Amino acid sequence: MQPIGAKPISASAAEALQVVLPNDTNPLGNVLGGRVMHWIDMIAAVVAFRHSNRPVVTAAMERLEFHSPIRLGQVAILKAALNYVGRTSMEVGVEVYAEDPMSGERHHTSSAILTYVALDNNGKPIPVPPLRAETPEEKRRYQDGERRYQERKQRRSHSDSKS
Ligand SMILES: CC(C)(COP(=O)(O)OP(=O)(O)OC[C@H]1O[C@@H](n2cnc3c(N)ncnc32)[C@H](O)[C@@H]1OP(=O)(O)O)[C@@H](O)C(=O)NCCC(=O)NCCS
Repeated sequence: MQPIGAKPISASAAEALQVVLPNDTNPLGNVLGGRVMHWIDMIAAVVAFRHSNRPVVTAAMERLEFHSPIRLGQVAILKAALNYVGRTSMEVGVEVYAEDPMSGERHHTSSAILTYVALDNNGKPIPVPPLRAETPEEKRRYQDGERRYQERKQRRSHSDSKS
């Protein structure tokens, strides 16, 4: 049974396009890694913002992988959706693709997982609506997200107990 007031994953999912310009690239004509990180952070924050309808902060960016470069003149396509929400935190998955406008070919270049926390008017964490995973793929991602959420909490409590 789904919790009351749950919002579907599709309601906050986002897609964005970036035309790769010279200012985005290194001397080899490949997009700078830091630029891709910025694009990823922006679209993932929009997803968390849409779900919570609150200001959000990035708590963590993890599992950022660059599988292949995005070249000058290509179009970067970013797709982001919530995987899982805790009480005040939201895990967003982002996939990045490069599309060649001449051939129309598209390939996957990067993935990342980010956690955002919604804040109240005093800048303190505030509960977010529950999340409704509808498709089999969303349900699988939700379970994976819940496992990572528990692992992160364990890691933090271990490092807190050491300090
Ligand atoms: C993120 C932040 C608000 C958490 O505050 P906090 O006092 O540690 O709050 P809590 O311990 O109550 O945790 C709140 C939630 O954040 C989650 N969280 C805290 N630290 C986290 C981390 N490093 N990674 C992932 N989630 C984290 C907790 O699991 C909790 O989630 P839940 O409510 O869903 O269970 C705080 O650490 C902060 O403001 N960080 C700086 C954020 C920032 O400036 N980002 C911009 C990049 S520099």
